Amino acid sequence: MQTFRERVLASSRKRGSRVVLALDVSGPFGQRVARATKVLELTKGSIAAVKVNFHLLLPFGLTGIRSLIDLCKGEGLPLVADMKLNDIGSTNLEVIESLLASDFDAVIANPLVGYRDGMGEVIERAHELGGGVILLVYMSHRGANEGYTLRLDGGMRLYQAFAERARRWGADGTIVSARSRAALRETRKIVGADCLIFAPGVGAQGGEAEAAMASGADFIIVGRSIIDSVEPSEEAERLRSATRKP
Ligand code: XMP
Repeated sequence: MQTFRERVLASSRKRGSRVVLALDVSGPFGQRVARATKVLELTKGSIAAVKVNFHLLLPFGLTGIRSLIDLCKGEGLPLVADMKLNDIGSTNLEVIESLLASDFDAVIANPLVGYRDGMGEVIERAHELGGGVILLVYMSHRGANEGYTLRLDGGMRLYQAFAERARRWGADGTIVSARSRAALRETRKIVGADCLIFAPGVGAQGGEAEAAMASGADFIIVGRSIIDSVEPSEEAERLRSATRKP
């Protein structure tokens, strides 16, 4: 059984893309699935994977987005659920079991809850089922430095401790803001070469795709600057070219 990391890297190689599309469609509920389908159809040749957030998961749930899941599966695009999972282990397990049974490939989770009775059993179970867990290390919004850069006893910053957890816990990937080159470089140093770094915050939040990749990101996550573009296919293709690795 291929791991999540192997699947997303294989998709990336096949398409020559390091772009994860955040399928964040807003507006009237009745139009969201159709709009998301259209954006996917327009961009599927330029992206490596798809991330789904509450924009779709809350109004429609896993069964209501079945056609979108099937479209991604048919195209060989790995699917990430952006739940920022943050609960006790038994509840987290319920979430991961449902997601993987519905053909999602990975979930984004918060390392703050700790390993025992928190994230440990989720990572173990996800791996047993062939799924992945991506840990939030440094978020991309402007307030991120109110929390993620706090100094802990001993002088380490919170995000460095989270990166260290990602390495120690065997997480498949991390989320690190594209807006902080220092955090990207530092996370890469801590997690090593085998843990993927996904960088959101490109475009709408001001981060630059090329700089994020040069600072250690493996993938960029992009939502609004593709979804809200007049030509989503052109924007996705532009980002694909800008972040292409040999
Ligand atoms: P935009 O429109 O800003 O959307 O390109 C980015 C997408 O990614 C999510 N996002 C994050 N997810 N950690 C995450 O796990 C982050 O630091 C982060 N920043 C943005 C956002 O919710 C949207 O789906």
